[in-house]
Amino acid sequence: MSKRVCVSDFEEQARKVLPKAVYDYYRSGADEQHTLHDNVEAFNRWCLVPRVLRDVSSVDMSLSVLGQRLSMPVCVASTAMQRMAHADGEVATARACRTVGTAMMLSSWATSTIEEVAEAGGGPGAPGVLWMQLYIYKDRELSLSLVRRAEQAGYQAIFLTVDTPYLGRRWDDVRNQFKLPSHLSMSNFSTSTLSFSDGSYGADSGLAVYVSKAIDPTLSWDDVLWLKRNTHLPVILKGVLSAEDARQAVDCGVDGILVSNHGARQLDGAPATLDVLSEVVHAVGGRCDVFLDGGVRRGTDVLKALALGAKAVFVGRPVLWGLACQGEQGVAELLNLLKQELHLAMALAGTDLSLLGPVDKSTMGQSELLTLNQNIDTAP
Ligand code: FNR
Ligand code: LAC
Repeated sequence: MSKRVCVSDFEEQARKVLPKAVYDYYRSGADEQHTLHDNVEAFNRWCLVPRVLRDVSSVDMSLSVLGQRLSMPVCVASTAMQRMAHADGEVATARACRTVGTAMMLSSWATSTIEEVAEAGGGPGAPGVLWMQLYIYKDRELSLSLVRRAEQAGYQAIFLTVDTPYLGRRWDDVRNQFKLPSHLSMSNFSTSTLSFSDGSYGADSGLAVYVSKAIDPTLSWDDVLWLKRNTHLPVILKGVLSAEDARQAVDCGVDGILVSNHGARQLDGAPATLDVLSEVVHAVGGRCDVFLDGGVRRGTDVLKALALGAKAVFVGRPVLWGLACQGEQGVAELLNLLKQELHLAMALAGTDLSLLGPVDKSTMGQSELLTLNQNIDTAP
């Protein structure tokens, strides 16, 4: 097996080992996938203007996020059903995150239980950091029971996904009539209907049918307040893309905002996340932390998002590729690769996390010029 030197090498190997329907489900974006491509392309519309002669012999990438110390500002986004990628699934991902010193956001739709993952990657007294992603079901008590279990197992925050009243239409999943392989289930639920293993989903994407049956499309701002009242954990909204929603989220008392278009799997034609990051950061005005996911594939991508005001970023698909390639070791290798890339990018750009501040920009041909230090004048 050839050496993996970049995230796309992981994807290439993963594509060879995964069953087609699984690879298609992991890879796909919604509809014509314009947003899927744009999430990645958006990073190429920015340049990093390096500063020189700044002694970069040591570059500190560690930081505190939501009260937890992490070794780098790159965390793992929730992706559903990881045991399709590797037999150890979410447990392997949690172990890898613990080894690398970063946080894992566990999907409500994991194929491992909240408690199993806590034992592998976190839990009271353990060094790993775990956050719980929450989908709100029509049955509110069911959603609350997930929150309670996460609290009890030592998870440190709730990421409430707000962009999925219905599932986006991913053409390959419709063609493949995507469903879980029969030996797997969404392990946090006890009935076959809720655990996505009853098999009766017709000729559509099985997951789209599941979502339309179980998930509550009436979700509104009142539910954010309801969740805030019902947990002592920080609540972060996952899936905000506009300044207006960001302001309303802050008014509801959220503890963070994750600028996300769900990896371009929901509304095709939604903007690339990097393109709306600045306006969300500006609207929030420091009242809570702002995070970003979508299309982050290189250390330089991470640096650009940080320079535009993200506190940290999340990666979704790359972790699935790491898992498919080599389980826990593959995820650790993938995360360490991003860590090394970020370290090098920061050193070559002559910056440190402490220097990343409000950003000046001016145009440079088709690209935009990004300075990394508020004290630096931008040359046109
Ligand atoms: C996701 N995402 C997601 N989000 C969420 O809130 N709950 C979930 O269960 C899932 N499941 C899921 C499965 C798969 C296969 C993918 C690719 C994505 C979205 C995820 O958390 C994140 O927003 C994106 O994956 C980020 O984009 P990149 O890094 O994949 O480009
Ligand atoms: C997805 C769901 C699980 O994007 O969030 O497939």
